[in-house]
Order: sequence, then structure tokens, then C-alpha cells
Amino acid sequence: MEKIMAGRWKNDLTRADVTPKSLFLNRRQIMTGGGMMLGAGLLAPGLARAQGYSTDETPNSFGEISTYNNYYEFGTGKSDPAENADTLTIDPWTVKVDGLVDTPGDYSLADLTDGMTEEERIYRFRCVEAWSMVIPWRGFELADLLDKVGVQSGAKYVAFETALRPDEMPGVRFPVLDWPYREGLRLDEARHPLTIMATGIYDEPMPKQNGAPIRLVVPWKYGFKSIKSIVRISLVEEMPPTSWNMANPREYGFYSNVNPQVDHPRWSQATERPIGGGIFAKRKETQMFNGYEQDVASLYEGMDLSENF
Ligand code: MTE
Repeated sequence: MEKIMAGRWKNDLTRADVTPKSLFLNRRQIMTGGGMMLGAGLLAPGLARAQGYSTDETPNSFGEISTYNNYYEFGTGKSDPAENADTLTIDPWTVKVDGLVDTPGDYSLADLTDGMTEEERIYRFRCVEAWSMVIPWRGFELADLLDKVGVQSGAKYVAFETALRPDEMPGVRFPVLDWPYREGLRLDEARHPLTIMATGIYDEPMPKQNGAPIRLVVPWKYGFKSIKSIVRISLVEEMPPTSWNMANPREYGFYSNVNPQVDHPRWSQATERPIGGGIFAKRKETQMFNGYEQDVASLYEGMDLSENF
């Protein structure tokens, strides 16, 4: 497969890059910077490639990705989820879709994902505690799922909830957060082609500690927005409550865009520590919107990002 680099991003991967599974150029990837959708036939091939969303950084190993996690329902230590999450039952799995949608209901995972175009995207995943990994996610665009269930006019936000299973999740005995874990996106953020519902890593199904069987990935936001093991998706009019914002509104806002210029009250967010490089690995400068500035900055035009952090 021909590989053409376009600045930092490419959307055409080879087996040597990461993994055999590479499905590309579904209709939403063929978008211009202005957001206008074009048919594949109308598009110069170079332009389509230049719109790719994957990073060309070397991905972390499957072992690193699946053993250094935050999933507080299974404990607050980075190795707790890998040690404890095998108790989570992921089959059967039901996702309730409700609120301002045409076809609300309790969807089995198979029904929810039926008809979605799966592809692989390699994103840098940036956590608020200033560490980062590069992860080859497998999944589909949240926008496709929203189209499938039919978003009604009046919906302005999408709210998400994680399963709450005290019998299977040792961490929810502790009131670290107000369970169930909740997150939310503005509808235009949710519809952005970078936002995916991930169901796997490399060529493997999603490990439980990474949020099996289905989780969100929003690569220009801090990791905590990417909620795991989703059981409810609600289309709502008002900005929904989110777990970290409820726990500490001074430290965690609704938007949580990666922004090296806005420090967390207790630490700088200007640099990050890449996981996997050993303890002497050099810190990297964190990029605005995690490197996706040209793709997402327009969503926040006119907003003060130090107010809306
Ligand atoms: N989702 C749930 N349900 N519970 C959590 O504790 N932690 C978040 C996010 N999603 C979390 C969650 C945080 S803080 C991060 S950094 C990412 O998951 C980590 O995702 P990863 O383990 O796939 O790297």
C-alpha cells in the first residue's frame, strides 16, 4: 500500500506501521477543512490523503496500553484495572439510547454496532496527569451511530454513562467519584469525525481495563473525557453533569481540551511524559488540542479557552 505523508498526519498505513487491519477513507474522512462533505469521485486523491487523522508516531505496545490505565471503578492505581477488570461481564451488553432521538431503546451491542464502518485510527492519547501514549484504536465514528438513532432538533449535547456494577467493580465501594462515571460532549464535538466509539486495540477486542466492550475516544481532549464501558447514551438539551467536573469543578471543566497554555491548578500542562520510554525518557511539549488544532479549533471560535477549560 502506498504511503504518503502529509505533515504530521497520514491516513494510509502499512502493515509495518502497526497492524494488518487498515480500513480507510470512509465517507466522513473525505472532508475538507471547512467541513463540507465531498463525494470520493470529486476529490483529488492528494486532498483526501491530506485529511488523514492518524498520527505517524510509533504506537505503544499492546502490553503498555493494557497495563497502565485509569479506570477508577477497578481501583485508582495504574495497574489496578489490569489486575481487577477481568470480573466485568461484557457479554451480553446493552446500551440504552434515550432522550431526543427518533429510535430510543435498549440496544444489544450487535444491534448498536450493526452497519457501522469499522476502521483503525492511531491517536496520541493524552492524560491530564501529563502522560501520553500512542494507541491504535479500532472503532467507528460516533456520528454514524448518532445518524442511525436519529438525533432530534433540540438536542445540543450527548451524555454518556459507564456501567455501575458493585459486584464486579471493587472500586465503586469508594466514593472517589459520584458513580456511575459520566461524561458529555457538545453535539458538534460528538459529530466531529475524530470522535470515535472504540471497540478494539490493534487487532484485538477491547481489553476490559481499556473500557470493553465499547468506549469513547476524543483525541483532542484529556483522557478522562474518553469514557469506558458505556451503557447509556442520551441526547439532551442542557449541558450534562460530568464526573470529574462534579468531583472538582475548579480543576476539571466540561470541555477539557488539551491545552498547554492552561495549567491544571496543581501542575503544568505544557509537557508530557511518553509512556514506554523508560524513566529517563525526555518529556515532550504538549501540542494545542493534542496536535489536532487544524481539525478542531473552529469548534471553539470565539470562546475563551481559559474560561472554558
Ligand atoms: N472511564 C471510566 N468509566 N472510569 C474511569 O476511571 N478514566 C478516564 C478515562 N475513562 C476512566 C474512564 C481517564 S482519567 C483516562 S486517562 C482514560 O480513561 C484512560 O484510558 P486508557 O486506559 O484506555 O488509556
